[in-house]
Amino acid sequence: MPATTMWKNGEFINWEDATVHVTTHALHYGSSAFEGIRAYATPQGPAVFRLQPHTKRLFNSCKIAKIALPFSEDEINKAIIETIRRNGHEACYIRPIVMRGAGPLGVEGRKNPTDVFIFTMEWGRYLGAEAIESGVDVQVSSWRRIAPDTFSSLAKLGGNYLNSQLISMEAHDNGFNEGVALDISGNVSEGAGENIFVIYNGVVYTPGTASSILLGITRDTVLTILGDLGYEVRFETIPRDMLYIADEIFLTGTAAEVTPVRSVDRIQVGAGSRGAVTKAVQDAFFAYTSGAKEDVYGWLTPVR
Ligand SMILES: Cc1ncc(COP(=O)(O)O)c(C=O)c1O
Repeated sequence: MPATTMWKNGEFINWEDATVHVTTHALHYGSSAFEGIRAYATPQGPAVFRLQPHTKRLFNSCKIAKIALPFSEDEINKAIIETIRRNGHEACYIRPIVMRGAGPLGVEGRKNPTDVFIFTMEWGRYLGAEAIESGVDVQVSSWRRIAPDTFSSLAKLGGNYLNSQLISMEAHDNGFNEGVALDISGNVSEGAGENIFVIYNGVVYTPGTASSILLGITRDTVLTILGDLGYEVRFETIPRDMLYIADEIFLTGTAAEVTPVRSVDRIQVGAGSRGAVTKAVQDAFFAYTSGAKEDVYGWLTPVR
């Protein structure tokens, strides 16, 4: 069922009324902070997966970008739950967005008021339904991820996604499902909208915080799952050529969930099909999100 209502600055409004003025600062300068969150269908009804860390990251993004956010984390959490409830979703994607609103066009932006919207939509598998099993083909992008002294990768800001668009469009134009970017030093950073994990000789590698990544919440979930499964995880600088000799690679993200990579730059990864570690992580991930596995970490927030 498509959403009919959404939350704006503390009130519920009709979907059609959620318009902004053309002088909205965020339209011109990318000055928005946002989140992508999923609610999954569980035996207890819809439940939001990892709500609190998403809201915390939204506040952190605003802190970094100095966007005033006139609500508390608790108020945003409650607004998210209520938006899902009012739209009657069993499962959905949730997009809270905070933006510098309409007003003067000066770049600095702090004179503009803040607008906050929370809307929901139904959204299936981001990289395609069969990708979860058969994997995706990726390329190493010719576009680098933003350098740490150019822009903030830890903040999920609208402006960052121009870089992601270049990476994704280049990959699609070249016949790949997704692009993976290197950081400014030439080492592996992340996908256009996903973190990356590489498995080699039974050890799991993923780029660390300083590799121009977004600290993904799915990444964090997967790190917990890998720990429970007894895998050794190393946060190392990963050179590009390690992608070519990896036994397995997978991407993680709220949209992409846990998606295997079957080739990089047309070089087959491992056996060219989903590997055992990837499968074990996926099984645990989907068991948690669907409520099939006991929610020992308190990852699910029920909507009803
Ligand atoms: C650039 C980038 N990296 C990583 C991720 C994965 O983050 P998360 O697992 O919190 O969705 C995303 C998705 O939000 C992203 O846009």
